[in-house]
Amino acid sequence: MDTAPKKSRTRHSSARAGALDRRSAKRFAGKLSTNVGVWHRQTALLAETAQLRQGPDSEIATTTCQVCHSLDYITTQPPRLANPGAFWTAEVTKMKKVYGLKLEDADQARIIDYLSKTYR
Ligand code: HEC
Repeated sequence: MDTAPKKSRTRHSSARAGALDRRSAKRFAGKLSTNVGVWHRQTALLAETAQLRQGPDSEIATTTCQVCHSLDYITTQPPRLANPGAFWTAEVTKMKKVYGLKLEDADQARIIDYLSKTYR
């Protein structure tokens, strides 16, 4: 990765002498590595920290639902006091039909029951 700026600096100065002087090439390389540093820090912040609230079947919900995305997708849903059962049934059905989640009927019922009681 750190050979890239060096390479392009050499290519620029030999192919088009004067077009990109050494100092601006250096400044450009410095910017590049700064951006890479920022990118690394942001990546580190993305480590999974969300957890589902403990309860019967929280474990199966955790293992099933964090395969494709953060559990934040569940815990940050706004309250659905009117009908949490319908909301979570629709969500889990969408995960299956639209995104290809494979789930046994019995496990599906347990997960929907847990989510409806816990995130309402
Ligand atoms: C096969 C992959 C996959 C699995 C497993 C999965 N999801 Fe998702 N889920 C997705 C995708 C893709 C999105 C949409 C992401 C986006 O729009 O950024 C999503 C989004 C969501 C959202 C946000 C609202 C929405 O409808 O977009 C919720 C809530 C959610 N999932 C709940 C669940 C629950 C509960 C489970 C476990 C039963 C689960 N997911 C398992 C793929 C999956």
